[in-house]
Amino acid sequence: MNDSAAHTPGQGAEADGTGTTHSATGDGTRAVRAGLPEPVKYEPTLPGPVFAAHFHLPGEPTGPYTYGRDENPTWTLLENAIGELEAPGREDVETLVFPSGMGAISAVLFSQLRSGDTVVLPSDGYQVFPLVRAQLEAFGVEVRTAPTGGDAQLEVLDDARLLWIETPSNPGLDVCDVRRLAEEAHARGILVAVDNTLATPLGQRPLELGADFSVASGTKQLTGHGDVLLGYVTGARGEAMDAVRRWRKIAGVIAGPMEAWLAHRSISTLQMRVDRQAATALTLARALKERPEVGDLRYPGLPDDPSHAVASRQMRRFGSVVSFALPGRAHAERFLESLRLVDEATSFGGVRSSAERRGRWGGDAVPEGFIRLSVGAEDPDDLLADVLRALDKAAGTTAGH
Ligand SMILES: Cc1ncc(COP(=O)(O)O)c(C=O)c1O
Repeated sequence: MNDSAAHTPGQGAEADGTGTTHSATGDGTRAVRAGLPEPVKYEPTLPGPVFAAHFHLPGEPTGPYTYGRDENPTWTLLENAIGELEAPGREDVETLVFPSGMGAISAVLFSQLRSGDTVVLPSDGYQVFPLVRAQLEAFGVEVRTAPTGGDAQLEVLDDARLLWIETPSNPGLDVCDVRRLAEEAHARGILVAVDNTLATPLGQRPLELGADFSVASGTKQLTGHGDVLLGYVTGARGEAMDAVRRWRKIAGVIAGPMEAWLAHRSISTLQMRVDRQAATALTLARALKERPEVGDLRYPGLPDDPSHAVASRQMRRFGSVVSFALPGRAHAERFLESLRLVDEATSFGGVRSSAERRGRWGGDAVPEGFIRLSVGAEDPDDLLADVLRALDKAAGTTAGH
């Protein structure tokens, strides 16, 4: 599948306006070359992980590599790679990697907010947010929440210091208009962070849409093999990113070199994975739509999804996650047990399809039969057949086999 599989958004999110080689290439080319150093004879194309707590450092202690908590050459290559995808051609942007998505999220929140500040969070975002909220409030930060859909966060924005957006939201797959929210926030001097986990940088480029930070869990589709935890923050160089870097140093939230290297290696196949997985997700969503027992179906790529119009303006690919509700907990459990090609597991974005009943965690405001299904890289026909067979079995319309 080539780059033409990507959808071109209506508001010019393609334009980076730099004319550099990297920004001019297609997503697949950019992904396979992202962050690679200049070729050196007899050296590998992607140097292996550098395991070092410290570096030889005679005399004046100047960088780039002094101590392993501050910098590591394997991080640098990965940070360059992610930066080239999040903000192609922009030399003024930097990326910092973290050991998990939560490490990255916490670094932004706790480095930007002070006691007495107000932050606006999504009320339907990642399920750890209630814990984050409690911690922020314990530090004297006022927390306001509103749903992602309908740009409802705008209504509670006044006097905030930071607006946190998660679009598409996990697990409800609602979408908000990042450009609109960022413009309104900036007009009031409010910083904007976008959680780009579900979309990946090949699905959406928050900085081009006006955000100050693009923050993500690289644990999901960015690395895509279900074997690495990672996170990152991308933003323009300056005071705000300096504070994020300082937070990484003082909290010591640093990625292991092996994980960073695995992530970099995985990024070379990102375009193939996101195109394949998004195409199959759309096929599956269309098939689910035909099923009478399936309710509340959401996939931003479905033309009649409530998010489709906004998503089409700002997203270049619609992601690998489909969500829907079956009639009750027992029905959903029968469905999950009957699947053979879809692992019952949390997380999403990996090459092996996975699904779970979100209600089992108790954190999301979802019906008992709500399923989040992450579409992998299996052959679309095999996956579709497996899901339809499991639906039949769960509904009791076939003899057990
Ligand atoms: C949207 C979103 N953001 C952040 C995170 C946290 O990422 P991690 O598990 O890598 O800490 C998750 C994890 O599921 C997520 O779904």
